[in-house]
Amino acid sequence: MAVVYSRAAHSVARPSPIAVSSAKPSSITCPQFSGLRCVEFGSRTESGFDALSQQLQSEGRGHRGVVSMAGTGRFFVGGNWKCNGTVESLKKLVDELNSAKLEEDVDIVVSPPYLYISQVLGSLTKRIEVAAQNCWTGKGGAFTGEISADQLVDGGVKWVIQGHSERRHVIGETDAMIGQKSAYALSKNLGVIACVGEKLEDREANRTTDVVFEQLQAYADAVSDWSNIVVAYEPVWAIGTGKVASPQQAQEVHAAIRQWLKEKISPEVSSKTRIIYGGSVNGANSAELATQEDIDGFLVGGAALKGLEFATICNAVTAKKAVAA
Ligand code: PGA
Repeated sequence: MAVVYSRAAHSVARPSPIAVSSAKPSSITCPQFSGLRCVEFGSRTESGFDALSQQLQSEGRGHRGVVSMAGTGRFFVGGNWKCNGTVESLKKLVDELNSAKLEEDVDIVVSPPYLYISQVLGSLTKRIEVAAQNCWTGKGGAFTGEISADQLVDGGVKWVIQGHSERRHVIGETDAMIGQKSAYALSKNLGVIACVGEKLEDREANRTTDVVFEQLQAYADAVSDWSNIVVAYEPVWAIGTGKVASPQQAQEVHAAIRQWLKEKISPEVSSKTRIIYGGSVNGANSAELATQEDIDGFLVGGAALKGLEFATICNAVTAKKAVAA
């Protein structure tokens, strides 16, 4: 059954560790956890994460004061409604979205549960596209409980979320399965919102980029064309917890992902691919996050269930434009 639909010509080995000097640059502080405990790195100054920070800083990137746009893609905001809603509550949410004032320079998608996709497609403004939250690894058939990418396309869906942490860590999807699903969805012309993100214990063990790079590699092993992929960095410890990553924490990993794309895929893919942040994004914190140079938008859970707040998050593109100007 395991068919990989388009294997990448650029199957690459895991990134080799970045060489570092033993001296920790004074401008680099240890990661701070918003609302979580801060890890004392002590002697672990040669960690991959510090090394990466150091490399990015030497390239004039990473968490620094100057803000601009590193990516060249349009701002992108997705609303992941997860397993929430009823016919009535989603009608109200769609009404709110239809009447919200939305800035032009932002791509917006919302992701209802499968059951309500038709209802939403039939009532939501065409300004906003619809994503599914998952799909099967290949063509349909005797796969009880699954939905194929072909069926999503047939129903008018344009996007699918893959590799969300709840599917990885609650349902048990593997990197390989997520890569296969993504490749098949792309082959049917669906856009893929490809999620990656570390658990708290990974971050505390200073394995953030190891985990994120492994997950990225699994996508890279399965797909050859990144033009319809949006990468969503969603630290698991920030999802649904109210503990948003600080703008610096998010920026640091986004810059690392962009660097990985540059080295492992191509400079063009690195600059064109939208890298969006997810994890407790809300109307109050989205503008500051948006000003970070490698944050190209958001994937929003809880706050996407409130139409006006979601519109505020979409309109954080104005903060981005203000600093990029
Ligand atoms: P949250 O969820 O915004 O509720 O943290 C984000 C997500 O799971 O995509």
